[in-house]
Amino acid sequence: MASPLIAPSILSADFARLGEEVRAIDAAGADWIHIDVMDGHFVPNLTIGPGVVKALRPHTAKPFDVHLMISPVDGFLEAFAEAGADIITVHPEAGPHTHRTVQAIKALGKKAGISLNPATPAKMLDYLIDDIDLVLVMSVNPGFGGQSFITSQLRKIEAVRKMIDKSGRDIRLEVDGGIDTATAPQATAAGADVLVAGTATFRGGPDRYAANIAALKADG
Ligand code: DX5
Ligand code: ZN
Repeated sequence: MASPLIAPSILSADFARLGEEVRAIDAAGADWIHIDVMDGHFVPNLTIGPGVVKALRPHTAKPFDVHLMISPVDGFLEAFAEAGADIITVHPEAGPHTHRTVQAIKALGKKAGISLNPATPAKMLDYLIDDIDLVLVMSVNPGFGGQSFITSQLRKIEAVRKMIDKSGRDIRLEVDGGIDTATAPQATAAGADVLVAGTATFRGGPDRYAANIAALKADG
């Protein structure tokens, strides 16, 4: 099995030194930079807006994987696209017209992702799979870093892997939440090819980032 891509979530970075932290995970082997955007409404936490994404853009050439946990979401797509997002992922529950939201992301020239909460079935993808570039399976309830991996999501990862393979399309299957050296191999065995890791990347400080990322790739 090929090594998974690792997308460190900067939610676990030192926010006072965010540009430096992004450069450090880039140098440490991060494949994508995962940016968790929370609005205090769709999820019970507030994080990063497009201004911060724009400020971080000059610090790395790695893809910005922007995970929008905001509702309504449509009005913010353009701002995140202009700020430098490469992949924009939304939750179907964040608005009544998910298909339209996906088309809007693509019209901005960005890759479109759909994120499934732990209680959201894989079936939600039935009429979206032909249009999307990424599926993000949440293995925790969104809102906070440092939570435990919900093992029931492994079955969903397997189901989504089958849907993607059946589609024949180039779609990434990313897993987000509670990824560490124990859960990474479980997620990849179930079919994930991109792993988000906040706590597990940033644990131990900058001197550990390269080893932390390498351990996730090796175990995954
Ligand atoms: C949760 C976020 C995750 C989270 C992952 O809402 O989407 O990206 O930061 O953090 P860890 O890896 O610590 O579970
Ligand atoms: Zn995330």
